[in-house]
Amino acid sequence: MSHDPELSPRRAARAEAERLATAALSLPPAAAEPVPPIPAAERPATDTAALATRRRLREATAATAAPTTASIPVLRRRRLVAVGGAVIVVAALAIAIGAATSGSPGGVAADTDAPPVAAVVAGPPTVPDEGLPVVQQAAVAATSTPCDDPAFTSALAAGDDAGAIAAAGGGGAFRAAVASGIAPCVSLSDPNREWMVVNKQRAYDPVDYRPGDLVMPDSVRALEESALRAPAAGALTQLVRAASDAGAGEIGYLSAFRSYSTQQSTYAGRVAVGGVEAADRESARAGYSEHQSGLAVDIVPCNGSCATLDDVAASPQGAWVRDHAWEYGFITRYVEGSEGISGYEPEAWHLRYIGPELARAYHEGGYATLEEFFGLPGAPSY
Ligand code: DAL
Ligand code: ZN
Repeated sequence: MSHDPELSPRRAARAEAERLATAALSLPPAAAEPVPPIPAAERPATDTAALATRRRLREATAATAAPTTASIPVLRRRRLVAVGGAVIVVAALAIAIGAATSGSPGGVAADTDAPPVAAVVAGPPTVPDEGLPVVQQAAVAATSTPCDDPAFTSALAAGDDAGAIAAAGGGGAFRAAVASGIAPCVSLSDPNREWMVVNKQRAYDPVDYRPGDLVMPDSVRALEESALRAPAAGALTQLVRAASDAGAGEIGYLSAFRSYSTQQSTYAGRVAVGGVEAADRESARAGYSEHQSGLAVDIVPCNGSCATLDDVAASPQGAWVRDHAWEYGFITRYVEGSEGISGYEPEAWHLRYIGPELARAYHEGGYATLEEFFGLPGAPSY
């Protein structure tokens, strides 16, 4: 692509960045998915520069998370994004610099037809040198981490997960910051966080962790006396009501929180039935189960009486959940084709609460596993 002399420097920078990103992915240019606006209520009061940083972080998500073309399977897209990631980062910074030097208030691009900005890299903020070529400008520039933002760190310290995500600029921006490594103040191992990731390579610490806010969901048929953490319980109530209102039928659940000792029994039962190898594909060892977080729930379809976990996938309830669970903050954690990353066979019934903002980013980014979402290594085995 040659540069159009009529383009403003900022637009030229964007065009160059788009060209680089597209070449890196070996894909034809594609229209970017629209980035949903951040509701005013989600925007923390802050200075203009910090707002600009969060805006760029939020926009970064669309470029790194949004599918480039619908014809490419999710895992293929993720691999392509990984391969082209470094170039995208550089190109994205070129875009960011273009915006920063455009004269727009706070460096935020005013026009909305431009491609979204991609991820950012760590390092001290620097003043872009307009005399350098765009890519070199990107190389010397860096943007700030949300960990330097008092609104973000105070929300983290208060245990306000939703507040921290909002301060970061939304779920997509939060994800991009964590996955790119610029947010070391965010722990994916803290079991109290809605974004926590536990898998065969990531045990609880402490291994017998137990959440402190377990409650039974209102108005949901529980086949076991099994609770959830309060935010997940409230979201499950909403999800079940919405599914019913949509005509999908009643959703009940079997198992939500399972303690370390309960998981020991659960896993031992599976080993007794099929041996260790089979058990490890369908049941977590104690200290490694999402159920121990109080953020996971195994749903069942109920039509009068309730059916089994294995009936979820082919049920209207299962179909509705696949399409809509993210709207209530849940993801289907173990999906077809991802056992090599998640470590488990598909479980259409196992929903994991990550909060509505992260679930939206997960859904809109076409992610299949939390490991890919946060840029973590796969965990196929212990
Ligand atoms: N069935 C899931 C993997 C668990 O046991 O946590
Ligand atoms: Zn489960």
